[in-house]
Amino acid sequence: MEEFDDGISVFVASEKDEKYVDTILDTITKAAKVRGSGIAKRTHDYLAEKMRERKAILALKGEEFAGFCYIESWENKHYVANSGLIVDEKFRGHHLATRIKRVAFTLSRLRWPKAKLFGLTSSGAVMKINTQLGYEPVPFSELTQDDEYWKGCGTPENPCCINCDVLARTNRKYCVCTGMLYDPEKHEGEELPVSLPEDVVEMAKHAEELD
Ligand SMILES: CC(C)(COP(=O)(O)OP(=O)(O)OC[C@H]1O[C@@H](n2cnc3c(N)ncnc32)[C@H](O)[C@@H]1OP(=O)(O)O)[C@@H](O)C(=O)NCCC(=O)NCCS
Repeated sequence: MEEFDDGISVFVASEKDEKYVDTILDTITKAAKVRGSGIAKRTHDYLAEKMRERKAILALKGEEFAGFCYIESWENKHYVANSGLIVDEKFRGHHLATRIKRVAFTLSRLRWPKAKLFGLTSSGAVMKINTQLGYEPVPFSELTQDDEYWKGCGTPENPCCINCDVLARTNRKYCVCTGMLYDPEKHEGEELPVSLPEDVVEMAKHAEELD
C-alpha cells in the first residue's frame, strides 16, 4: 500500500472491494462525457473479476473512492496493458494518477516480468506518466495484434470510441491515440518504482492460478 500524507491509500484491490465497482463505472462514464470521448465497455462483473484476480488498483481516502485502474494481458501474456485509469475530479492534479500507475506498473512487472507493457492514450497526463515509467511512443504495429484488445475501441457499426472509424479506415495502423510501449529488455536490472506489501509480492510471483 502506498500512502502519502494526504490520507489516500493506493493498493491492489481484492474481492472485498467489489462495493466500489458501480461508483468506478459511474465515474468513468461521467468523465468520458466531459471529455467527449467514447469509452470501452466494461461491465460490473468484468471489474469485479479484475478485483478477485488481484488485477486492479484502487485509491481510497478513508472509504471514499478516489481512483482506479486495472490490468489485462494479451497474446498469452506477452503483452500487458494497464487500462481504465480514472481519478475522481475532486482528487485530480495531485499526482494520484501517477501513484496509481506506479503501483499498476510494479504489479505488472512482478507478475509478468517478460511481458511488454503497453497502452493507448490521448491524455497528456497519461503520456507524461508513461514516459516517466520508461514507456516510449511506438507505431500500432508494435502493440498487441490481439483482436480482442482492439475490440475495446469498437467498430463503425458498433462504436465504443468516437474515433473508431479512423482506426477501421487505416486498417488499425493509425488513430488519434498514441501507442506507448515499455519493453522490459531495454530496462534490465532497473529498480521498480514502488515497494508493494510482502503478501502482494508473494501473490504476484505465484499468481498462475489467478491468470
Ligand atoms: C487523466 C487523469 C487520470 C489524470 O489524473 P491526475 O491524478 O490529475 O494526474 P497526475 O496529477 O498524476 O498528473 C500526471 C502528470 O500529468 C500532468 N497533467 C495533468 N493533467 C494534465 C493535462 N490535462 N494535460 C497535460 N498534462 C497534465 C501533471 O501536471 C503531472 O505532471 P508532472 O508529474 O510533471 O507534475 C484524470 O484527469 C482523469 O481521470 N481523467 C479522465 C479519464 C482519463 O482521461 N483517463 C485516461 C484514459 S487513457
